[in-house]
Order: sequence, then structure tokens, then C-alpha cells
Amino acid sequence: MVLFAFFAAGCASETINQPTTLKGAFKHDFSIGVAVNQRQFTGADTNGVALITSQFNSISPENALKWESVHPRPGADGYDFAAADAYVAFGERNHMLIVGHTLAWHAQTPAWVFRDENGRPLQGTNAADRALLLQRLHDHIQTVVGRYRGQIKIWDVVNEALNDNESIADTNLLRQRSPWVRILGPEFIVKAFEWAHEADPKAILRYNDYSIENPAKRARLIALIKMLQAQHVPVTAIGSQTHANLTWPSPQLEDEALTDIAKLGLPIHITELDVNGSSRGQRLQSADVSQNALATGGNQPTQAAAVQEQLAAQYANLFAAFKKHRDAIKLVTFWGVTDADSWRRGGNPLLFDGHWQPKPAFYAVVQQAK
Ligand code: XIL
Repeated sequence: MVLFAFFAAGCASETINQPTTLKGAFKHDFSIGVAVNQRQFTGADTNGVALITSQFNSISPENALKWESVHPRPGADGYDFAAADAYVAFGERNHMLIVGHTLAWHAQTPAWVFRDENGRPLQGTNAADRALLLQRLHDHIQTVVGRYRGQIKIWDVVNEALNDNESIADTNLLRQRSPWVRILGPEFIVKAFEWAHEADPKAILRYNDYSIENPAKRARLIALIKMLQAQHVPVTAIGSQTHANLTWPSPQLEDEALTDIAKLGLPIHITELDVNGSSRGQRLQSADVSQNALATGGNQPTQAAAVQEQLAAQYANLFAAFKKHRDAIKLVTFWGVTDADSWRRGGNPLLFDGHWQPKPAFYAVVQQAK
């Protein structure tokens, strides 16, 4: 294909060759984002940068704005903004819609956050412990959101707080193993949104989670958002991670999920899209980070042609659903640029291979734009 030859020539011929791009193909539907890593937003990965700036118009930080990255130590001088500043500068330089990920999550949060100064675990039954954790959450959100006020336009305020048991009979709304839930209960969700809104009243504030196609989890999501809306909590978008595999979600399930969630009246963002192509990944519908090793298994440096076709077909199904729900969906973000960058690289789950070349799935996605 001549299509991507212009990258080598430094993009100068873009207007002459009119290459197919994701952001161009979907410009009347939704923004197209991508999660970027340190080597990309610092410019070291020049091929990656060429793809990011030509194909996408929005970025998410794969890890740079997680608590452990931006606030590794306790206290007012425990912040480290080096990576996050470089990420935001990269987005501004390239005129991209910049997303922040994520403020309150159970993973990639240092242990000190949930312990007192002597290392004793904080207890939900102890009022002083609860006050201390809320104070930390408040300071973290005000500092991080405040620093990028007006620059980061969208925040994942709360990530993965829902119980992900696939059984509808499990009546727990929230993830019981999360220290946020264990110590503070639903209050941390309410406060996180309120404090983020205070720090940047114009920012779009998302609740973000995975597997919300599964009926039990979807019902919990809807219950949670309705509860927040009844209390006038400023949650202003729903993030659906959409870590899919070759057969899940089915077209019907994806359509059902988007139909149901759109009824909440909030914009929907597809926040972490990928399609796991590894054989192990076909059984697992959860994107729980603690189970990720189970989801990919051994590396497959090249993806077999038959799997490439299945991957393309599943991407086509997903984008057909996104197009159908284009009134609700405002942003579709891929969780990584190439297969080699992916957290599930063993499943070759993205549109570009490890040599920055478009796969059949890329053309299948673009085809859905028409
Ligand atoms: C993943 C990153 O891609 C990895 O680099 C990191 O080691 C673990 O986290 N849900 C999320 C993302 O919200 O932050 C996770 O990202 C993938 C699952």
C-alpha cells in the first residue's frame, strides 16, 4: 500500500496523497483517541509519534497520570509532575483533545495512601482514618486537576469501582476488594467528582469501567449513575473501556449495552478499546489488571492470517455499533498505538502491528466510517 509511505517522507505530502486516517474517516461521528506511553509523549518513539499525530486527535495517558506516577510519596512535596507535564505539553503541541486518567482507582496507587504514618492500615470503622483518607483524596484531586485546569478537558475521575461479579444475584454494588470501597464506601465516589468539579468546573468528568456489556455489571453501572445523579453529583460522561476479544461482546450485546447506557442521558466515551486475539484471551471477559497475565499468555510476534480476519471482523462489528450510536458516543480511544505497545501485546489487539503498519483490522474500521 502506498498509503503509509508518507510517514517516511515526514508527512509533508499528506495533502497531496490524502492518506486514509482514522480521525479523518470519523470526523463527522466522534473524536478518535489513543493511549500514549512515555517513549511516545517524550518523542523517543518517532514512528509511534508519526502514527499518533497523523491518525488520532485525542490522547490518554497510559500510565503517566496514575497516582503512583504523579504522587508517589505522601505530602505536599510528594508529587512528581515530570511525565505528566511532558504528556500534556505533547498534546498541546499537537492540538489534541487531552484526557486525564485516573484520579481514584484501587490499582497503581501506592500502599501509603491506605495506611497511617506508622504503616497501620486505615479502617472504615475509624472516623479519624476515614477523615485522613478523604483529606488525601481531596488534596490529590485538587492538586492534579488544578495543575492542568483548562488543558486536560476530560478526566476519568473514578475508575473500576463497580463489583464485577457476572452473577446478577450478587447484590454488592461496589468492588468489595477495593481499599477505597472498604474504607470509605460510596462516599469516595461522590467526593471525588465534587472535588474534581471544584478544581476545574469546565472539565468533562467520567465514571470509567470495563465489561459494562455484561448485564449484571451494566445494571450496577446504571444504578450507580442514577444514585449519583439523584444527589446532583457532577458526573458528566460514561467511560466504557471496551477491552474486547474476538467473539465478545457480540454485535447484539454491544448494541444492547450502548442502548441502555445512552438512556442515562450522558455522553458515552469508548475509553480503552482493544480486541484480544490470543487464544487464552477468548475465555476472559474481565479486564481486571490483576488477571492480565491470564488474558494474553505467550507472545505471538506475528498474528496468523485467520486470526487477523477475525480481529478485523470484530472491529467492524464494534464500529458498526459505535456508528449506530453516534449521537451518544463522542470519543473512541484505542488502548495503545501498535501491538508492540499494548498491555496485551501477546494478543496483538490493535490496528497497527509492531512495525507500525496497518493491519486488515485498520481497513475494516475505516470501512465502517462510510
Ligand atoms: C494498564 C496499562 O496499559 C499498563 O501499562 C499497566 O501496567 C497496567 O494498566 N484498565 C485501565 C488502564 O483503566 O489504566 C489499564 O492500563 C488497563 C485496564
